[in-house]
Amino acid sequence: MAIQRTFSIIKPDATARNLTGAINAKIEEAGLRIIAQKRIRLSKDQAEGFYAVHKERPFFGDLVSFMISGPVVVQVLEGEDAIAKYREVMGATNPEDAAPGTIRKEFAESIEANSVHGSDAPETAAEEIPFFFSDDEIVG
Ligand code: PPS
Repeated sequence: MAIQRTFSIIKPDATARNLTGAINAKIEEAGLRIIAQKRIRLSKDQAEGFYAVHKERPFFGDLVSFMISGPVVVQVLEGEDAIAKYREVMGATNPEDAAPGTIRKEFAESIEANSVHGSDAPETAAEEIPFFFSDDEIVG
């Protein structure tokens, strides 16, 4: 498997509990490199645009409100098979279903406040990375 890039968000529930470093440690322990990172506050427009794929789902409004409720850390991760590897490190969307040792099992509070987001496919990563980062902000 070739070197890939994936997009990550450390969500407001995790920044509120000062977990950025603990989550980054899990990312790096898995062999992924953090090649871009910034702490920002999402606007409502940005959150609605980023999650547009979910706009018909019943939780869309709650998801957008949650994502703008506090700072997030957006990141680009690089490594072998990075997309699948990061999803493994994150664990299942619902922390109740997440495997031991995963970020969501250890840190997430609920299916909404689930601490992290990661791209689910190469096409998604290719859209999500430029949504937040210009080429000169990514240092591989
Ligand atoms: S997945 O992994 O994309 O298939 O998961 P999915 O269940 O489709 O969820 C997509 C994102 O929506 C969030 N989510 C919710 N937010 C608020 N309330 C409820 N009930 C809820 N269910 C799912 C979930 O955390 C996913 O966020 P991201 O950032 O994409 O991981």
